[in-house]
Amino acid sequence: MGELKFGKHVKYIFSIEKEKDGFESVVMEHLRMNGAYWGLTTLDVLGKLGAVDQDEVVSWIMQCQHESGGFGGNIGHDPHVLYTLSAIQVLALFDKIDVLDVEKLVDISSLQNEDGSFTGDIWGETDTRFSYIAISSLAILQRLDKINVERAVKYIVSCKNLDGGFGCTPGAESHAGQIFCCVGALAITGSLHHVDKDLLGWWLCERQVKSGGLNGQPEKLPDVCYSWWVLSSLIMIDRVHWIDKDKLIEFILDCQDRENGGISDRPDDAVDIFHTYFGVAGLSLLEYPGLKAIDPAYALPVDVVNRIFLGK
Ligand code: FPP
Ligand code: ZN
Repeated sequence: MGELKFGKHVKYIFSIEKEKDGFESVVMEHLRMNGAYWGLTTLDVLGKLGAVDQDEVVSWIMQCQHESGGFGGNIGHDPHVLYTLSAIQVLALFDKIDVLDVEKLVDISSLQNEDGSFTGDIWGETDTRFSYIAISSLAILQRLDKINVERAVKYIVSCKNLDGGFGCTPGAESHAGQIFCCVGALAITGSLHHVDKDLLGWWLCERQVKSGGLNGQPEKLPDVCYSWWVLSSLIMIDRVHWIDKDKLIEFILDCQDRENGGISDRPDDAVDIFHTYFGVAGLSLLEYPGLKAIDPAYALPVDVVNRIFLGK
């Protein structure tokens, strides 16, 4: 089944950073902050974060911050919680959380609605992705006291379906990406008792298809990124032994570009940084040798999470 091409993936990540006018960079322009999180976390998990110019990255991140406290996807772009969490995560990777004006950032709490849900920005779309992001961001900043956690949890629980999964709003169908967000937020707030672990574990392990890959919903094609959304959720509810780990490892390794590095959604598709990250992160959750361990709730390396919460 081959092996993980460590060196090629490191080279691929550095190559897209340099290619500022390339196709992927243009498509990624407005998502550059997310791209920084995906690329740099992958490098860290591969053990190569030391090769990055930290000061340059930190200075660029701080130029993406708005008066309101939130971060944009790039310099001059509107703020959104999607980019704000990525900015906090990258600073955490570099142990640079202290450059942040935390009092300004805790304004994320103003995005909480009466029913406990969160909007992603001032425009008002509600989604359990934003509940996860607000909770994870404030937990990393150690300021969860700024929101009404009880209501936030109640809202997430109201998005639980009869199949044990969660959707983006109450009544919306279960989707593995939203399940990661809801289970992650419940894990961070110590509220996993609201999850029916056997029922959800069953739904999640049914996401594994013949090729060994995982899909996000019944009848959908397998996709490397669901290695993360499904596996991290299974780990958080202690049911990861219900899937065939070796077959999933084989599927992810089959999605590598063995010549030029990078990982795609499915074998023989074009690689991108999003799937490269979730492929490597998935392999880390599967304890593939030589990779740093990653925390399933915070989606950050375990040593970074320990540094934040245990100071070591
Ligand atoms: C599906 O993505 C994934 C989701 C809906 C979950 C997204 C979660 C976040 C943005 C929270 C932050 C995440 C981390 C890891 C810190 P998609 O709709 O692009 O997938 P697809 O189109 O490939 O099925
Ligand atoms: Zn995908």
